[in-house]
Amino acid sequence: MPRSAPTPAPNSVARRRKLAAGNWKMNGTAASLAEVKKLKSLIRKDRLAADILICPPATLIERLARMAKGSKVAVGGQDCHAKEQGAFTGDVSAPMLADAGASTVIVGHSERRTLHAERDADVHAKAEAAHRAGLVAIICVGETLDERSAGKADDIVKGQVSRSVPDAATPKNTIIAYEPVWAIGTGKTATAADIEAMHHTIRETLRARFGAAADAFRILYGGSVKASNAAEILHVPGVDGALVGGASLSAAEFYEIIKAATPKRPRSIKAA
Ligand code: PGA
Repeated sequence: MPRSAPTPAPNSVARRRKLAAGNWKMNGTAASLAEVKKLKSLIRKDRLAADILICPPATLIERLARMAKGSKVAVGGQDCHAKEQGAFTGDVSAPMLADAGASTVIVGHSERRTLHAERDADVHAKAEAAHRAGLVAIICVGETLDERSAGKADDIVKGQVSRSVPDAATPKNTIIAYEPVWAIGTGKTATAADIEAMHHTIRETLRARFGAAADAFRILYGGSVKASNAAEILHVPGVDGALVGGASLSAAEFYEIIKAATPKRPRSIKAA
């Protein structure tokens, strides 16, 4: 597929609009749609500086997409199969997600990598399937605590980015989410300095492959982002948004995170 990466603006950092993405994981039934209704009314009058995405379980995508129509909330899936259709009991394909109203899909989340033994090659194939279906792929990468302790975090993440991101990736169809595995659902977050350093590493890895176009890719941080730490994390230089698990289940808390994404002038981060 030909690559159609936009020419980066001289100050493309300012051009990367922040994204607050909620990953509901295996949480939510019809009753949870009340939170979306609440969120819609909270954001209605705001001039938001961030894009908003909610990735509910597959069972809720269509209803949520219908509710969100005409609002600033986009809807995504949490995973897709690499094939369009076939004998894959229990799986959902990218065209099915698109058909249900999703614009985006998360691929390679660490819970999929760990609990479903997904390798980079699988993530790569899923991202390509997402692109074929016209979906934006949020490709997740991140090291475990053992890998970080052993000083291998950079190499692990660089390898994941290189092997999981397809050649046809562009800043329009692909977003990277850096989620240190040890920070997911644990209440622990990486230090601002570590986040900045890893986002820089990811950007450099993209630059080596995509050249100047790499500057326009959005790179999110994920792992225990909540209302109380969102402002600090979202203003770390190089952080273009957050992938939020637990804290996205509450409209009130997710709204605080969305508001925290309002761009401020980048400030220097003290080493931890
Ligand atoms: P968490 O999950 O915010 O609950 O840590 C983040 C994620 O897994 O995407």
